[in-house]
Amino acid sequence: MRERQATTTYLKDYRPPNYLIDTTDLKFELDNEFTLVSSKLSLRRNPEVEGWNSPPLVLDGQELELLSVTLDGQVLSHADYALNTESLIIATVPDQFVLEIQVRIKPIENTALEGLYISDGMHCTQCEAQGFRRITYYLDRPDVMSRFTTEIIADQASNPVLLSNGNLLESEELTGGRHSVKWLDPHMKPAYLFALVAGKLEFIEDLFVTCSGREVTLRIFVEAKDLDKCDHAIESLKNSMKWDEEVYGREYDLDIFMIVAVDAFNMGAMENKGLNIFNSSCVLAKPETTTDLTYQRIEAIVAHEYFHNWSGNRVTCRDWFQLSLKEGLTVYRDSQFSADMGSKTVKRIDDVALLRTVQFAEDAGPMAHPVRPDSFMEISNFYTVTIYEKGAELIRMMHHLVGDAGFRRGTDLYFDRHDGQAVTTEDFVKALEDANQVDLTQFSRWYSQSGTPVLKISDQYDAQNQQYRLTVEQSCPATPGQPHKKPFHIPLLIGLLDTDGTDLPLSLQNDLSGVNGSTSLTLEITSEKQQFVFENIPERPTPSLLRGFSAPVKLEYDYSSTDLEFLAQHDSDGFNRWDALQKRFVVLILDFAEKLRQGEEMELPTQLISICSSVLAESENDPQLAAKMLSIPTEAYLWELVDEIDVESIHRAREFVKQELATALNEPLLRVYREQSSNELYQATSQQMARRSLKNLAMQYLVWSGEERWLQMATEQASSGSNMTDVSAALGAIVNSMAPQAGQLSDKALDQFYLNWKHEPLVVNQWLALQAGCPREGALQRVEKLLEHDAFDIRNPNKVRSVVGVFCAQNRIHFHHIDGNGYRFLEQQVIRLDGINPQIASRLLTPLTQWGKHNKPRQTLMKQSLSKILEKGNLSKDVYEVASKSLG
Ligand code: TRP
Ligand code: ZN
Repeated sequence: MRERQATTTYLKDYRPPNYLIDTTDLKFELDNEFTLVSSKLSLRRNPEVEGWNSPPLVLDGQELELLSVTLDGQVLSHADYALNTESLIIATVPDQFVLEIQVRIKPIENTALEGLYISDGMHCTQCEAQGFRRITYYLDRPDVMSRFTTEIIADQASNPVLLSNGNLLESEELTGGRHSVKWLDPHMKPAYLFALVAGKLEFIEDLFVTCSGREVTLRIFVEAKDLDKCDHAIESLKNSMKWDEEVYGREYDLDIFMIVAVDAFNMGAMENKGLNIFNSSCVLAKPETTTDLTYQRIEAIVAHEYFHNWSGNRVTCRDWFQLSLKEGLTVYRDSQFSADMGSKTVKRIDDVALLRTVQFAEDAGPMAHPVRPDSFMEISNFYTVTIYEKGAELIRMMHHLVGDAGFRRGTDLYFDRHDGQAVTTEDFVKALEDANQVDLTQFSRWYSQSGTPVLKISDQYDAQNQQYRLTVEQSCPATPGQPHKKPFHIPLLIGLLDTDGTDLPLSLQNDLSGVNGSTSLTLEITSEKQQFVFENIPERPTPSLLRGFSAPVKLEYDYSSTDLEFLAQHDSDGFNRWDALQKRFVVLILDFAEKLRQGEEMELPTQLISICSSVLAESENDPQLAAKMLSIPTEAYLWELVDEIDVESIHRAREFVKQELATALNEPLLRVYREQSSNELYQATSQQMARRSLKNLAMQYLVWSGEERWLQMATEQASSGSNMTDVSAALGAIVNSMAPQAGQLSDKALDQFYLNWKHEPLVVNQWLALQAGCPREGALQRVEKLLEHDAFDIRNPNKVRSVVGVFCAQNRIHFHHIDGNGYRFLEQQVIRLDGINPQIASRLLTPLTQWGKHNKPRQTLMKQSLSKILEKGNLSKDVYEVASKSLG
């Protein structure tokens, strides 16, 4: 739909549906040119609607060719209904009736990848959020739940596999080489969870026995060439099913669970009931083609979609403003799962890094919105880090506040109370309250207020009385539509370290909670300013604040570099140890950026070098945490921390620190690299992954030092590595190297890599992404050339993300070049893509929306590009909403 109809939908306008659909019987007749969709819906008036005045029936529908409508067996004529580009309206209907509708659709022409479309010759669907209305006329809203049957008729040879939700009822051979199947989903579901797949697919199969002893068939469907890449996903699925039984008491509820991999997909994956559809990049893995990072991502996404079966499908959303009800909760559940499968601390570090860069930036920009938004133009634009990751943080904080047992009581009550219903985030909070007799009224502001709260903390030590006083002040910057915020309820987990680095036992003045004496304490921040006095503190302590990142806030405390170095070595909280060292790096890089502006000399502090070398020396204990600790803060994080971004100075200061540190640590780095290298057979275990991550971090550092021999070493690893983790880390190190001789080596290595892997689309995507992120001169020209390469396909979102997405969001020094060419490039790509796939076009726009923190010349250029996009006119709702809101 184009912008002329770009209207805003408000939460306050929510009304229950006038009509309900008890059963939905669908028939799909697939053909090459088009698909016939026949539906038989049994409708009735919604008894919960008050003041009934026989409203018209308004069905949603887009890009459909209506062939016929029958009401209780009577064919309706054009006079009986009205049609427009968004709906089919029948003015008068009885209280209960059967509606039969036939439409024709053209999946072949569907490049938006919403509704029914073709991916690599295969029919598949994507109905969330509002794709079902591109399949047939329907009440396409999540609070209308129905019992679905799906009949599919297709050519046997080209579509041997025909899938839909639920259990297979029957299948039949027909004349003319066609066949048909019928699926029944016994669970009531909203249309967004509908799915259909048809194509030439093969599968691997496994079995899961549930806690109550039921056998569930597990199948992963892929193209024949990918059958050898399904093992990891099916292991992950079995682990998820078991974990959800043990940790949340949730059992699976159908006889079969299916996953299908498709190449053209707008997001990661989709939780359709009993038939999850996955972006092939989030399911296929084997050691030769897949990095450890992707192995972990696959495990997390398989779990995420599986967990939706309860948090999303059995209990679903009343309306799309409640999206975080299912997404925040499910991200929280998958993060707990990943933490249990690997390292809790490292998982927390990764989650917080994403939150603090991408989500904090969103919260500070023109698209900021609450976890439960109150309006939108296009719901697809609200599948954001705020809804997902910040939403998960809210669940995490509530878990923290009610404790493990209380949280489980709360989720049990929630699933039990609302099974089969479409509910709101308030219903979730209410279940936690009722199960624990707590009041989360103030906490609920986290759902309605946008923006990232700031905690400003100061302290005072009184040696005479042996008292230590913390003063905590909270505030939250204005965000679009919300100039003033009320105080949040913030759990602040803290500890106090003595001069040896040992945690002091904490006893709070006037504390009645009975937790005094422990070494970590949760301070509940509820007012704008609060003071906490700790008794019996024998010496001035070093505070360890916001342990485990107990709340999604920005912390302001005046740590000295010495404090940070001390915490990095001694904090008993692993997350805060990591964070202290990151903060120390940040101080250094920002200080160097200033020195660069002033033309002053830069020198790496010896104390920092010695801490880094002791991290390396002790890295054997926890190699993965060591690798995280030695990772230099990203440009994205540094940008987030400054008021005005100085693109060049930050980039150069960061490069300087990388190179100097690499040179200073040459010896221990090489030792670690050698120690962690091994010939053992690749396994995707967390132990092996931890070792590879440290080894490859050491290699990357060595290459940063710029010496020829390390480039040679990386080249050797890139060509002879036995798994993609090692190969792509080495290739990445060469491609990203700024050493003068790296250009040639990198071209050669990339050419060889392409020759080796051109038959594997997912590996080719990595190849594209590596080049799009390359920081050497001429980046934009290289990216423009990639768009012309045979391996590129603008209709495949993975390829667009690998090239355009990576260049604009990650290759910051080039995308933000002051000549403005990067911005104009994105402007053109967005305009081009908007005619093909609006969801992807709109997502790509994000870097341009964040003009607010740049210097004036860049702001002008970025806004010019946004205006150019708007001037083009006839935009999708998706792009129109983001571009217009960004210009304010
Ligand atoms: N619900 C999906 C998830 O697991 C998100 C999703 C998949 C989606 N495909 C989509 C959202 C297309 C919008 C459009 O998070
Ligand atoms: Zn989800």
